[in-house]
Amino acid sequence: MTTDAMMIVHTIPELRALLDAERTAGRRIGFVPTMGALHDGHLTLIREAAAATEFVVTSIYVNPLQFAPDEDLESYPRMLDADAASAEVAGADVLFVPSDHEMYPEENWTTVSLRVITEDWEGESRPTHLAGVATVVTKLFNIVGPCTAFFGEKDFQQLAMLGRMARDLNMAIDVVGVPTVREDDGLAMSSRNLRLTPEHREQAPIVQRALQAGATAIQDGERNPTAVAEVISTMIATAPGADAPDYVAVVDASSLQTPEVLSGEVRLLTAVKFGDVRLIDNIGVTLK
Ligand code: PAJ
Repeated sequence: MTTDAMMIVHTIPELRALLDAERTAGRRIGFVPTMGALHDGHLTLIREAAAATEFVVTSIYVNPLQFAPDEDLESYPRMLDADAASAEVAGADVLFVPSDHEMYPEENWTTVSLRVITEDWEGESRPTHLAGVATVVTKLFNIVGPCTAFFGEKDFQQLAMLGRMARDLNMAIDVVGVPTVREDDGLAMSSRNLRLTPEHREQAPIVQRALQAGATAIQDGERNPTAVAEVISTMIATAPGADAPDYVAVVDASSLQTPEVLSGEVRLLTAVKFGDVRLIDNIGVTLK
């Protein structure tokens, strides 16, 4: 982080000129893409970027491409002043806040989408979402240029997809994952938590506890992914406010495919609705 006040930039040419000058001066760029409504999860990414690189750009852009028509695009929280203040304290040097017209001046005809890693889980529950993310993040990577980009493990399928995309397409971007930041009771931080009723908020930490129980089963020797998924769904079903999970995935952490027998880096992921609030969470287990 530099000590000057954080700048707010709205246009692509202005951001490019600024970042090119930083790179020419030999500074490494850290990039944290967000959709705003920043909480401690996002701010942790900015702090990590500030610790690992010399100049940090954070973007705030609510990307219409990744919302389905029935999702919360219109009601997605927008609070630029508060976000700018907290991003600056966390260590951002520049905040990039493009308009819809800046990002999509013409009808968008190009879609970036990945096979295999996006076919299940979030990909199945939200069919256009991950391609919308891959497309906007490709645009943002092309705007920012060579950098280290930080993403939360909270959205694990998104993180895994973007790492694979950068490798598949030889992008000059290092994709780095940052562990999920949680509330004291274990609930993964999310702007959607505020929309939970008090009863649902009290029950929501079951999601993390159920994933932990799955991880414990694996550590105790269970190697059958179906049996581990069963442990997780059974525990989630004990919360009266929880719907049956959209999915419980017990998968290989890099392909997100379900193996016959668990080994190596394993990821446990689930999505559960409490009322109309859909929560996602995941944890990792490493097998020797
Ligand atoms: P958004 O939901 O705003 O999240 C921005 C980044 O913050 C993502 O990398 C997300 O994984 C991370 N994050 C959110 N909650 C977190 C938590 N509790 N702990 C750690 N990291 C957390 O994800 C998006 O925006 C968009 O899809 C985006 C990548 C910006 C593309 O539009």
